[in-house]
Amino acid sequence: MADIVVKDLIKVYKTGKSEVIALRGLDCSMKGNTIQAIMGPSGCGKTTLLNIIGGLDRPTAGSVRIGDENVVDFTDDELVRHRRETVGIVFQFFNLVPTLTARENIELPMRLAKRDSKEMKARTDELLSLVGMQDRAKHKPDALSGGEQQRIGLATALANDPPILLADEPTGELDSETGHQILMLFRKLRDEFGKTVIIVTHDQRIGQIADSVMMIVDGRITEEMSGKEFHDRNLDSTRSRSSPS
Ligand SMILES: Nc1ncnc2c1ncn2[C@@H]1O[C@H](COP(=O)(O)OP(=O)(O)OP(=O)(O)O)[C@@H](O)[C@H]1O
Ligand SMILES: [Mg+2]
Repeated sequence: MADIVVKDLIKVYKTGKSEVIALRGLDCSMKGNTIQAIMGPSGCGKTTLLNIIGGLDRPTAGSVRIGDENVVDFTDDELVRHRRETVGIVFQFFNLVPTLTARENIELPMRLAKRDSKEMKARTDELLSLVGMQDRAKHKPDALSGGEQQRIGLATALANDPPILLADEPTGELDSETGHQILMLFRKLRDEFGKTVIIVTHDQRIGQIADSVMMIVDGRITEEMSGKEFHDRNLDSTRSRSSPS
């Protein structure tokens, strides 16, 4: 599984005469087959970083190497292939097509990749069962709960079996228990399917499953620790908050 190495990434958004510097020379390196959590205050550049790794946006400068390829050098056609085959993206608001059933949503990326229909059906069944949604395949998104929609969102992101999964606050709209189930699915994807998972999240429980937790402040990584360290640190702060003063 290829590592992801980000070097000196800069992103400047220009709107009219004003400029926003979203990333200010961000460096990080993420090992393959791990879960990497990204945390940080609103506006620090988390979504910008994911979008660049996912080929949804281009940086102003810097490089994003996945194995021996640099995503930043990709042509538009190569970026399309990157989005279709190398990365799967899970969004906070599920991003399902409202007029399609759960099954049809999962099939959509495979149709775009022109997959054979028999193979597509088998893969969709496999994904529905992976996320525990076999009984809900014929429902449209508005007939599904938030957690169910997110499970279909996850299955859709996995349709073409990408090695890398990018998730932008995937549990942000879910209650605590449902969010936990989604996190457990990410763990399974790493442990049983060898995926590399990059999760932007505010959920403190991420320490229980992440191999590494990175903090971004103002467009740069300011701190990185193991998931265990992050978890222990949270336990300590919870204890000191609840201990009598
Ligand atoms: N398309 C855009 N045009 C102009 N500025 C943008 C654009 N997208 C993001 N920005 C700005 O870039 C900065 C980083 O935005 P980004 O969406 O990456 O933050 P974030 O860390 O994901 O925040 P949040 O936690 O609120 O989702 C912010 O100041 C934001 O206003
Ligand atoms: Mg964001």
